[in-house]
Amino acid sequence: MIERIVPTETETAEAYGDLPEATLLPEEEPIVKSAVAKRRAEFTTARHCARQALTRLGAPAGAILTGERGAPLWPEGVVGSITHCEGYRAAVVARPAHITSIGVDAEPALPLPSGVLEAVALADEQVAVKELLESAPDVRWDRLLFSAKESVYKAWYPLTRRFLEFEEARLVFDPAGGTFTAHLLAGPARAGSRTLHTFDGRWLSQDGIVLTSVTVPA
Ligand SMILES: CC(C)(COP(=O)(O)OP(=O)(O)OC[C@H]1O[C@@H](n2cnc3c(N)ncnc32)[C@H](O)[C@@H]1OP(=O)(O)O)[C@@H](O)C(=O)NCCC(=O)NCCS
Repeated sequence: MIERIVPTETETAEAYGDLPEATLLPEEEPIVKSAVAKRRAEFTTARHCARQALTRLGAPAGAILTGERGAPLWPEGVVGSITHCEGYRAAVVARPAHITSIGVDAEPALPLPSGVLEAVALADEQVAVKELLESAPDVRWDRLLFSAKESVYKAWYPLTRRFLEFEEARLVFDPAGGTFTAHLLAGPARAGSRTLHTFDGRWLSQDGIVLTSVTVPA
């Protein structure tokens, strides 16, 4: 399903749970050496998905180590993003000639725990989410907002190498179009010679999962 919300120039792979055939490469073992079994399993399946996507892209499908602040280290000439949540793992990769940065995030389509919306959403975002929960209750808009902010961060970080607080992006959803715009309140991101004040995103709610992407095209 992730291919529905990313550009055609990307390659994707996804899994609805952990795959027995998924394995880690020896260089990746230290990353999850002390991890609990659940974290190790989701990491392993997501790395497996990432290697499938890299192979489809025609890129080397070797070890994908973890860099600063948890960002995956893609091979030279590749950009990408990884997500995992209960029952779902996915990876998306592309060539920098087409895509400058990409972030994807999956979440279970369940209400956010009490207090989380207030912690991650600006006042006007909270109003918009509450209105959408009433007018279009088939979608968990609170969870979708959270996911969209995580996708914003995953696309933002490789460009800026800076953390982004939840209140540093203001998101506006197009409920009918399956898109959203993120206004970057912490200051713009630079992509080559471009100065970006907004990111464009897409969203989907399907099979009990909410899924978001943010793409910065080349
Ligand atoms: C990093 C973060 C976004 C991950 O999101 P999550 O919903 O917890 O988890 P997901 O499974 O969807 O994504 C985890 C993957 O994100 C990727 N990731 C982690 N840090 C990253 C970073 N700094 N940049 C890009 N990708 C990153 C990794 O591939 C990671 O999986 P892995 O450790 O198995 O390689 C989240 O934990 C976080 O720190 N959020 C705070 C920052 C933020 O979201 N700000 C909002 C700004 S509007």
